[in-house]
Amino acid sequence: MTDRVITSDATQFDEPFEETLRPDTLSSYIGQNQIKENLSIFIQAAKLREESLDHVLLYGPPGLGKTTLAAVIANEMGVQIRMTSGPAIERPGDLAAIVSALEPGDVLFIDEIHRLNRAIEEVLYPAMEDFCLDIVVGKGPTAKSIRLDLPPFTLVGATTRAGSLSAPLRDRFGVLSRLEYYDEAALTEIVLRSSRLFQAEIDPRAASEIARRSRGTPRIANRLLKRVRDYAQVRGDGRITESLANEALELLQVDRRGLDHIDHKLVRAMAERFRGGPVGLDTLAASAGEESATIEEVYEPYLLQIGFIQRTPRGRVLTHLAYEHLGLPLPE
Ligand code: ADE
Repeated sequence: MTDRVITSDATQFDEPFEETLRPDTLSSYIGQNQIKENLSIFIQAAKLREESLDHVLLYGPPGLGKTTLAAVIANEMGVQIRMTSGPAIERPGDLAAIVSALEPGDVLFIDEIHRLNRAIEEVLYPAMEDFCLDIVVGKGPTAKSIRLDLPPFTLVGATTRAGSLSAPLRDRFGVLSRLEYYDEAALTEIVLRSSRLFQAEIDPRAASEIARRSRGTPRIANRLLKRVRDYAQVRGDGRITESLANEALELLQVDRRGLDHIDHKLVRAMAERFRGGPVGLDTLAASAGEESATIEEVYEPYLLQIGFIQRTPRGRVLTHLAYEHLGLPLPE
């Protein structure tokens, strides 16, 4: 089991430097305007009533800022955040250890909450609803159930698959927010903000180019920015110009729509081996040598979003937009 209290350190980023890029207030968080406006009202109201914030479920594709937003919520509420994840909580005792260490009002962040097992979910329901925990101590005939009172807390759950959450768990969240892909303007702003934090000089056109190729995803935008910054430092004088950005992105094999070699491999497989589909997810995954879950959660959502593939009851089909983008002949 992993459980950690964070103030400024956090999970998910391989480079600690990335931490400094994360906004810590709603006003410095770019994009997701509707969610921010709603959260800001709920947070202010909870503070006025001196209550804990209602439980929040954040869902949407990876890299859009669910973890960041959880930390922002805690910061705006003026409480601590404890971070864990669905698969890390193996036994009811693991959950009991985490929730009984919470201070009043704290945020408990459970990433990948759809991966909690049923037994844990059962323990979580009364914890969410009544702030109490029923745990069984001992085994066999001497086993007894004891009730533990908990401080009021806010559960922030994050998932890429809201559909795989059980209905009773989903129903216990008072706030359900779906994070959307970012538009180019928001991503450009994020790239410019990150460049400022890196103290890197960047041409706004270079920032837009990085934004355009970031698949609507801030995590990708920041990663591309770092690689482009490397390129500008080695092949240029450190200033990120539009032409250096384009050269770096070509070298990284990120095309003009942000598709990488795995997207290309998937689209090609669909076009060349399945005549554009329909093809089932598992068949496609086996053919492309990728995991079904990775395709479903990471690659497919963006290809669906930009209209390159469609889901039908019989499987995935490629659209003419994909053929045109890759310069592939349309099937007869
Ligand atoms: N860095 C990553 N995501 C961000 C966001 N939504 N706003 C500001 N900076 C970010």
